[in-house]
Amino acid sequence: MIRKYNPVKKEIVEELIRISGRRNVIIEEEKLQAYSHDETPAEQYAHMPEVVIIPKTAEEIAEIVKLANRELIPVTPRGAGSGLSGGAIPEFGGIVLSFERMNRILEIDYDNMMMVLEPGVITNEVNERVAGKGLFFAGYPMSIETCFIGGNVAENAGGGRAVKYGVTGRYVLGLEIVTPTGAIVELGGKRVKDVTGYDLKQLIIGSEGTLGIITKVILKLLPLPAARVDLLVLFRDVKSAIGIVPQIMTGTGIIPTSIEFMDELSVKTSCAYLNEHLPCAQAGALLLIEVDGNNASQLEEDAERVGELCFDNGALEVYVADNFTTQERVWSVRRSIPEAFKVICPHQSIEDIVVPISAIPDLIPELKKISERYSIQIPCYGHAGDGNLHATLVKDPESSMEKWYEIEVKALKELYFATKKLGGTISGEHGIGLKRKPFMKAITSPAELDLMRKIKMAFDPKNIMNPGKIFDLE
Ligand code: LAC
Ligand code: ZN
Repeated sequence: MIRKYNPVKKEIVEELIRISGRRNVIIEEEKLQAYSHDETPAEQYAHMPEVVIIPKTAEEIAEIVKLANRELIPVTPRGAGSGLSGGAIPEFGGIVLSFERMNRILEIDYDNMMMVLEPGVITNEVNERVAGKGLFFAGYPMSIETCFIGGNVAENAGGGRAVKYGVTGRYVLGLEIVTPTGAIVELGGKRVKDVTGYDLKQLIIGSEGTLGIITKVILKLLPLPAARVDLLVLFRDVKSAIGIVPQIMTGTGIIPTSIEFMDELSVKTSCAYLNEHLPCAQAGALLLIEVDGNNASQLEEDAERVGELCFDNGALEVYVADNFTTQERVWSVRRSIPEAFKVICPHQSIEDIVVPISAIPDLIPELKKISERYSIQIPCYGHAGDGNLHATLVKDPESSMEKWYEIEVKALKELYFATKKLGGTISGEHGIGLKRKPFMKAITSPAELDLMRKIKMAFDPKNIMNPGKIFDLE
């Protein structure tokens, strides 16, 4: 398979300028820098593009992709750059397509409770536009204020409401894509049911930009629940907080919207970063549990039952947040954890391992073992109710970078194997991208990987679409 790409020569830049206009083609080194990395540590993964194009239409993108096929130049689509697996990094240089200009909400279809969007719409904007009409989009990535909907679809983003509502893919009814050979194709549509042949739309969702470029998204909206209650539950230690997670659903029969977990270090780091004070000084770990619904008294009852179950199982304290301001304060602490860690220690590895929910208590001793074996801190937070935890391997500030990279690979391997043994896998929401590609062979069967490679080749015979991600072709 071809991996030697051609450079973007001057004549090609001129052709790209003819397609997209001078001001939408970036070639200045200092401006390209911003497109060389995502939220993975830059010095470890970054790679410079040769040219960045900021297109406006699918037709324009199709033309660029055809050119890229003809000239054998890699094309890497990029959303807001908030990814955590290097998916938008142009590993082999070439062209980066950035969607900041394709940011229009094309249609709000109230009759069908759907929205048609360009990929560069900031996810939070979706909800801001329809909240007044009693609707909402159920996806809730923690980067909601910055990430793009196109990136959410490409990564099949998870987030904080998946316990009850599932992940992004459940709400994508249709896509328009530009294929890796430059055709514009509509997949799915405004239909709740559709079994017309293979479900190619679902294949694109979560394919990390390797099978095509998303140029339009049809999103399903839901009626906005009238009320929500959040419980901030304090526990003495991590074990007791995580231990109760599977029981919250099995023991109460209630499916909360969210069951988020934060250990002491995660909460304190985020609070310090935000200059926020939560009443959790005594706690070794916290759960943030949200329930939502339309019937206020039923909701109160549900919240009470969940709270009682927590108390019966060793909770130190249960605080109730039932107004928007307090809820936002608490959720902001949760959402800011990754950013806060990044500020105090840029050398770290944010993981998003996922196990069956019943196995989540068994993960904690494994983390402890790895932390002790390699003498590194592994703070942990995340979507406990989905079995999806952000164990974060943090470099010891005293050790050299060389030593850290060595430890990181070894510790990750152990973490991934422990996760697999519990019936889990290495990425629940951030994707494989560049960062986890070296571990794909260990986690997937040869037959499965072979099918994935064949699918990739069928879509992208010249391997120009976001090459070097998820797996290598040879
Ligand atoms: C979060 C990101 C790291 O849940 O997925 O905060
Ligand atoms: Zn997450």
